Amino acid sequence: MDDQEIVERLMAEMTLAEKIGQLNLLAAGEGLVTGAAQHTPLARRLDAGQAGAIFGTKSLESARAMQERALAGSRLGIPLFFAEDVIHGHRTVFPLNIALACSWDLDLIEETAAFAAAEAASEGLHQVFAPMIDVSRDARWGRVAESPGEDPLLSARIAAAATRGFQGAELGAPGKVAACLKHFVAYGAPQSGRDYDNVSLAWEDLLSIYLPPFAAGITEGAGSVMVAFNAVNKMPMHANGALIEGWLRGAAGFDGLVVSDYTGVKELTPHGLGAAPVGVARALHAGVDMDMVGEDYLSHLPTLVRDGLEAPEAGLSLSADQVAGLVDRACRRVLTFKARLGLLADPYRGLSGVPAAPSRRDGRKLARKAAARSAVLLKNDDLLPLSSSAKVALVGPFAADRANMLGTWSVSGRAEDVVPLDSAVEALTGRAPVVAWGADIVDEPWLAQRLNVHGVTVESDPRSETEKLRDARAAARASDVVVACVGEAKEHAGESSSLLAPEIPASQRRLIDALAETGTPLVVVVFAGRPLALGTLSDQADALLYAWHGGIAGPEGVADILFGAAVPAGRLAVSLPAHPGEVPLSYDADPTGRPFPGTFAKFRTGWLDLSDDVKRFPFGFGLGYGKMHYGSPELSMTEAAAGQGVQLRLSVENAGPGEVVETVQLYASDPVARVVRPGRFLIDFKQVRLSAGERREVVFDIFADQFRYPIAPTLEAVEWVRDPGVVRLHVGPNSRDTSSVELTWQT
Ligand code: GLC
Repeated sequence: MDDQEIVERLMAEMTLAEKIGQLNLLAAGEGLVTGAAQHTPLARRLDAGQAGAIFGTKSLESARAMQERALAGSRLGIPLFFAEDVIHGHRTVFPLNIALACSWDLDLIEETAAFAAAEAASEGLHQVFAPMIDVSRDARWGRVAESPGEDPLLSARIAAAATRGFQGAELGAPGKVAACLKHFVAYGAPQSGRDYDNVSLAWEDLLSIYLPPFAAGITEGAGSVMVAFNAVNKMPMHANGALIEGWLRGAAGFDGLVVSDYTGVKELTPHGLGAAPVGVARALHAGVDMDMVGEDYLSHLPTLVRDGLEAPEAGLSLSADQVAGLVDRACRRVLTFKARLGLLADPYRGLSGVPAAPSRRDGRKLARKAAARSAVLLKNDDLLPLSSSAKVALVGPFAADRANMLGTWSVSGRAEDVVPLDSAVEALTGRAPVVAWGADIVDEPWLAQRLNVHGVTVESDPRSETEKLRDARAAARASDVVVACVGEAKEHAGESSSLLAPEIPASQRRLIDALAETGTPLVVVVFAGRPLALGTLSDQADALLYAWHGGIAGPEGVADILFGAAVPAGRLAVSLPAHPGEVPLSYDADPTGRPFPGTFAKFRTGWLDLSDDVKRFPFGFGLGYGKMHYGSPELSMTEAAAGQGVQLRLSVENAGPGEVVETVQLYASDPVARVVRPGRFLIDFKQVRLSAGERREVVFDIFADQFRYPIAPTLEAVEWVRDPGVVRLHVGPNSRDTSSVELTWQT
């Protein structure tokens, strides 16, 4: 029998209770580590056939014990599948996704996902709750740390690369896991940057910005999708049939499994959609196949199948048969997902520890390469790379830090696996740097306590600030170069970590002021989970490196860049705000009727209390160790019909002194359209490695479909259009510093 025949045979034999049990996705919690003997709530669920899957098993032994127990409790021998939050690595923790996005290196991103998949699969995991592909433009939102950044095209290519890495060519392959695209959809655009808050968006923005990464992951064959906590335009996503059954399964052709987020079904009640039975009926009807942790499907579906649901106050009326049909639809999807993973043919598939976990040594090497590729050099006044003979002081709360470098959502990582920056510098140069604490991460004890929510990562030095700064100045004065190691704690960013003001904490700004006064050449390295407003820091520093939270080898990657063992190649995947108050922020903002610069000096778009000459680090920005020269772009034709391919060529040259990995970026703008269009939008990019003195021709293929855009008065009435006429093409090293040419589409 083929997979579908196995599924249909099971569907025909299963009782209603067995079908509902498959829709229940549970957390391992205390697990069954001592084997099947334990009588935990989880054990009781397994004994009763009331679990379809479990996440967070933490070991192969634990997963095996649970599978044994589940199979013993299943009349038809239906196995569990096992899942985990493998967001940026499993045991080998890679840089945060926002950091990896700054590498713009899709092969690297695929390679890190593949390594994470191999580690996860070796421990009996079948699915990972990744890639997180929520486009994010609001630095107040903590989960920007997990995101691919602000741009839909870069995010879409990352979604595809990560899906390829996790799943390989076919779902269920050995050493691979099912991807789970999350969080569907627009979770990254909550009002006021508050996590879980609701989203109000033009349908055109939803279709052009937030949905494309999901479409790309689905095209790559992603096996599952996780639904977002938020509402979109007044409809909570867990009840959003128009977007789940409508766009996801309809327009985008997704045919995999849809899981809720943690108690997301239950949360339809506080969203205001009615009591739990109504929420359950609406979630199931909308296309949420599995209920994570809340157990509301388990609790309420038996009654709903018996009685149906008449809820006029919720505008809902479902007959008993309709509910039964929805239970069958969801259960069939769960069984099909398990079949694709090979579990119906072999219930212990993936639980034999074969293939074994990949080499941790190889993982560390990859993590170090990824960390160096993810860091973004924002300024370098001929200071970097440093000589290995230089006397270096590392000052700040991250100079010898381990735990914060893992970043948020590193659930299976260990701080002891991190080589801190002081050790990394000594290992690389043979000279132990001088280390001084300099400043606490934050001033406020209550905030430090909140940041230590998952264990202590925010320590404080009990001495007075005067003494801390005195030591910092002394260390700087006694050295050739001082490196300020500043930024955010691990839990400054991540889930339920929205900040009012995304900027370097005040205590650390005072440290930078003190170091700048010493006159010792100053390098500032920012370890953060989100884009931070840097204020005057970029004027005070002679060199500035945005290193993010770089994982177990984050500090080593930084040391490699500081001393020239690696070249800085990162380019910002998210704009750095000049002031924390200007977020949400993106390079592709729509033009207004009063642009700046423009007709009016005063009556124009902008802020009265933000100077016009603030220093900005725009999307796509980053420096290398070689001076790049861009030639003028040329088009193979300046007029073309829709079916014709046009080429844009330009030369790029590295004037040295160091090697450069350059990301040549191509943007477009559509100056006249039927609705407002972004000021400019990324349509392609190419990465080239150039030795000093090397010159290379870069060629982009341009085609009419890159200029299609939606007109969407409603989600059901979407028309994708493209107009003849002039479009502009802008090419350069980032989204701001470009050269332009015009192309006329004749049709
Ligand atoms: C969390 C997150 C989601 C995660 C899930 C399971 O609340 O929103 O990203 O995968 O719960 O841990």
